[in-house]
Amino acid sequence: MRFEDKVAMVTGAGHGIGNAVGVRLASEGARVLVCDLDGDLAAANAKAIQETGGTAEACVMDVAQRDDVQRAVDQAVSSWSRLDILVCSAGVMERAPFLETTDKHWLRVTGINLHGTFLCGQIAARQMVTQGEGGRIVNVASNSGIFGGRGRAAYGASKAGVINLTQSMAIELAEHDILVNAVGPGPTLTRPEVQGALMASAQNRMPLKRYGLPEEIASVAAFLASDECSFTTGHVFAADGGFTIAGVMEG
Ligand SMILES: NC(=O)c1ccc[n+]([C@@H]2O[C@H](COP(=O)([O-])OP(=O)(O)OC[C@H]3O[C@@H](n4cnc5c(N)ncnc54)[C@H](O)[C@@H]3O)[C@@H](O)[C@H]2O)c1
Repeated sequence: MRFEDKVAMVTGAGHGIGNAVGVRLASEGARVLVCDLDGDLAAANAKAIQETGGTAEACVMDVAQRDDVQRAVDQAVSSWSRLDILVCSAGVMERAPFLETTDKHWLRVTGINLHGTFLCGQIAARQMVTQGEGGRIVNVASNSGIFGGRGRAAYGASKAGVINLTQSMAIELAEHDILVNAVGPGPTLTRPEVQGALMASAQNRMPLKRYGLPEEIASVAAFLASDECSFTTGHVFAADGGFTIAGVMEG
């Protein structure tokens, strides 16, 4: 019960990694605001948490809209009087060849993944600073933010931005005892339909030779969100089956 007495806001918590993070934090005692653009998914996960004895509320919001993010933080504070933890998992992985990347595609992907992470971090951190008792912020980056990838100009740039934003936030928020880290998932099975050549190519590059499960990313995020993480800030923790450390794998 590492999160007893803690209030957490998790974005993208209706599906995939964010869903698993919400479930994990609630299972260890956190009161969780389940934020998602998709109201049905947010409501379903909040209900699932409640049915297992946890405490959760749904919040329909768009991380790319400042007013929505402020409303989410206000909901957490109005329901539970405080906010201790923010996990930013909302994101879109949409690919486009670089030469055909439109302004619309670029602005949508960076708008949700990077601008959304900035908005949530800034507004949540202001609340934590007001409370004066520190906090934890966990951003969800990606292997794609560390090296380039085909079709990932906007996505990779957005995640590289999340990594650098994490470092700058960690420096400026340290004086408030707000620790800011990121988890860097490798290929993770959040969509059962992911298979075929892309899956085989990714697995071949991973020493563990398999996709991760959302719960495996959530366990790293939970550590970074906990008081156990007390001397680590501004770091990206790969949870990627060895994807980022692998060089030559055969022979
Ligand atoms: N799945 C992977 O292999 C993988 C790998 C590396 C990084 N990531 C990152 O992990 C995070 C979660 O990925 P996932 O695979 O769980 O995705 P997912 O598509 O399964 O879930 C994302 C959730 O975010 C919500 N969302 C989308 N746009 C939103 C917005 N503007 N405001 C609020 N909510 C919004 C969606 O409705 C959805 O419920 C993303 O940031 C993604 O880039 C995923």
